[in-house]
Amino acid sequence: MAVTYGLKSALLASVMCLASVSGALADEVAVASGSVGTDIQELQEAGKRFQEQTGHTLKVVNMPASSTDQFGQYRLWLAAGNADIDVYRTDVIWAPQLAEHFIDLKPLLGDVVSKHFPAVIESQTVDGKLVALPTWADAPALYYRKDLLEKYGKEPPKTWSELAATAKEIQDKERAGGASDLWGYLFQAAPYEGLTCNALEWIASSGGGRIVEPDGTISINNPKAAAAIDAAKSWIGTISPPGSLAYKEEDARGVWQTGKAVFMRNWPYAYALGNGGDSAIKGKFDVAPLPAGEGGSSSATIGGWNVAVSKYSKHQDAAVAFVKFWTSEEEQKIRALGNSRLPTVPSLYEDAEIKEKQPLIARWQEVFLAAVPRPSAPTKAKYNETSSEFWTAVNNTLAGNGDAASNFKRLDAKLKRLKGKEW
Ligand code: GLC
Repeated sequence: MAVTYGLKSALLASVMCLASVSGALADEVAVASGSVGTDIQELQEAGKRFQEQTGHTLKVVNMPASSTDQFGQYRLWLAAGNADIDVYRTDVIWAPQLAEHFIDLKPLLGDVVSKHFPAVIESQTVDGKLVALPTWADAPALYYRKDLLEKYGKEPPKTWSELAATAKEIQDKERAGGASDLWGYLFQAAPYEGLTCNALEWIASSGGGRIVEPDGTISINNPKAAAAIDAAKSWIGTISPPGSLAYKEEDARGVWQTGKAVFMRNWPYAYALGNGGDSAIKGKFDVAPLPAGEGGSSSATIGGWNVAVSKYSKHQDAAVAFVKFWTSEEEQKIRALGNSRLPTVPSLYEDAEIKEKQPLIARWQEVFLAAVPRPSAPTKAKYNETSSEFWTAVNNTLAGNGDAASNFKRLDAKLKRLKGKEW
C-alpha cells in the first residue's frame, strides 16, 4: 500500500511539475454555494464541463440552504479578507451590501453582460460597478394538485381567501376519506429571508406597499399590510402545519412531494424536482401565479442567484473564467432543462426544447419580469437588518405573539431608528 501510494504521489508530483514547467495555468476555483435542492449537484456537474473547457478545476464549498445563514457567513469571511473562496454565489438582494468586497465584472466581461435582461444586470450594479453576473432568476409559483382540484370541481384560486377556502374544503374532505395527514397549504414561515418574500407577497398583493418604498419611505405601518398578515396567521394550524413557523423551502417541498398537500408556494426549482423520478406527485400538479389580496393583484417577489468574484481571491482570472462559463447561455439552458431554473438570457424563453421539457419556464417570463423587488436598493447596506426586523415581526404575529397592527407599529419605530437621517 505504502509503495503504491508513494508511486502515485511521485507520479502526481512530476505531472504537476510538468504542468508548471510547460506554463499551463490550470487553477482551482473555490465556489461557495447554498444547498437547496439540486444546487450542489448541478455545480459539481458543471465543474466537470468547466474543466474540459478551460483546464481549471472547481472546488464546491457547500453552504447552508438558508440565504440568511449564507449571508451571515459570507459577510464574516469577506470582512476578514478571506482568500480561500474565489467565487461567491450571491442572492439577488446582496449586491448593495457586499459590493465593496467584489471586483467589477463589467470591464472584464464586455459583450457578455448585454446578453442578460437589463433589469437583472441593473439589480447587480452598484454605483456603476457590476458586482455579480446572473445565473438564474426566481419568481415563486402557486403549486397545486390538478387531480385534487379536479376531483372537487375547483379552479386554481385567484385570491388568498379563495385559496384558504379551497384548501380547507379539500383538506377536510380528503381527511374524512382517510388521508389524515393531508394539509391545505404549505409555505415558508421560518424567521429568515424566505419569510420576508412570502409576507411581502401577501402585503404587496393587497395594496399594502413594499415595507420600504423605492424612494426610501417606510410604509409597513398600514392597515392593509396588517390585515394581510392577520389573514396568514389564521392559516397556521388550520390549513397549514403548525410546523410552518420553522419551514424553509425544502421543508415545504419535502411534504409536498410526498403527496401530503393541496397547495404550496415555492420557487421554480420545485417544478423539475416534483416531476422527478422519485416524486409521488409526478405529473399530478401544475403551477399558477400566486393569489392576490382583496382588490389587489398577484405579486411575486423577485429572487435569483448570481456569481461574484472576491477581491481577495488569488485566482481572479480563473474565477472570472468560471463566471463567464457558469452564466453562459449554454449553461443556463442545461439548468433550465434539468432543474427548471428561470434563465436570465431572454432568447432561452423562446427555446423549443425548454418549452417542451419545462413548460413552466416560458409561462414564467411574464411573472418574473413583473415581479416585486424587496427593498434592498433603497435600504442599501441596511437591507439585512431591515429584512430581519420585518421577518421577526411577521414570525411573531404568525406565532400569536401580538397582532399585526401592534407588531407593525413597533417595527415602524425600529426601522425609523435604523434608517436615521437616511438609509
Ligand atoms: C430563493 C430566491 C432568493 C431568496 C430565497 C429566500 O432562493 O432566489 O432570492 O432570497 O429564495 O429563501
